[in-house]
Amino acid sequence: MKTLSVDHLLGIKYLKEDDLHLIFETADHFKEVINRPIKKVPSLRDVTIANLFFENSTRTKLSFELAEKRLSADILNFSAAQSSVKKGETLIDTVNNILAMKVDMVVMRHPNPGAAEFLSKNVDACIVNAGDGTHEHPTQALLDAYSIREKFGEVAGKRIVIVGDILHSRVALSNIFALNMLGAEVKICGPKSLLPKHIESLGVKVEPDLKKALRWCDAANMLRVQNERMDKSYFPSIREYTQLYGLTLPLLQSLRKEITILHPGPMNRGVEISSEVADSDQAIILDQVENGVAIRMAVIYLLASKLIKPQA
Ligand code: CP
Repeated sequence: MKTLSVDHLLGIKYLKEDDLHLIFETADHFKEVINRPIKKVPSLRDVTIANLFFENSTRTKLSFELAEKRLSADILNFSAAQSSVKKGETLIDTVNNILAMKVDMVVMRHPNPGAAEFLSKNVDACIVNAGDGTHEHPTQALLDAYSIREKFGEVAGKRIVIVGDILHSRVALSNIFALNMLGAEVKICGPKSLLPKHIESLGVKVEPDLKKALRWCDAANMLRVQNERMDKSYFPSIREYTQLYGLTLPLLQSLRKEITILHPGPMNRGVEISSEVADSDQAIILDQVENGVAIRMAVIYLLASKLIKPQA
């Protein structure tokens, strides 16, 4: 059986291209499973997984939980807001107490960049990063690339533009690593104040003009402005941001070519994307969410297979 080159999923930057293809091939199998009348396999009956969310989430939290249930794993759900973290317990103490209950794997979302890697070095469990601050969101990038592969047949050679708040976006960073590794051409587009200074050193080009970027691309990934991570104003007003970087139906129609629209969610309708675009046939936003379950099943299955021998 083929295996991943890593024992944890901490970020796309730690993976190899072969890992991405293995995850996609495994997800193809699980996508077929979750479209059957009986959507469940017994593969991880002997595995216990704790989902630790120290930051809000809808898609990632529910998608991991469903993926684990579809694989027949036992699961624990932990929400920091209702936990003893509020009484001052440290991250390592919290996780070691959970692991003492015979937990094998920890899926964690945390506001601090590097939190997943820190945990992997300090506790004895397989760690899956479900988003660490502004650093990485590896399963989001995997499901985005998988959705592009599903739409176009392959990712290699495709032109992808990532639009919006790149500076605060773990989705952008993980997408850049994944798309580059898979041989796509990547451009980023957004206000200069929301682009990291040395972003081109990651192998992407900057196109400040949204219309030019959209004319160039096969697919556009529209990112949310992350107001919750901003300590100051990065642009004069939301109205001006939308005028320059919002994707509207008139703009889409003016391109005179069909492009595919992605969005990781949650969307700010009327800011980075209009409702008409988000709900159009060119948007694959809900396909991304569906693929998220298959991708997370694949990631958990492949990592768990390094802990135990799962039943096929
Ligand atoms: N895309 C994403 O991470 O969404 P959530 O914050 O709802 O999990």
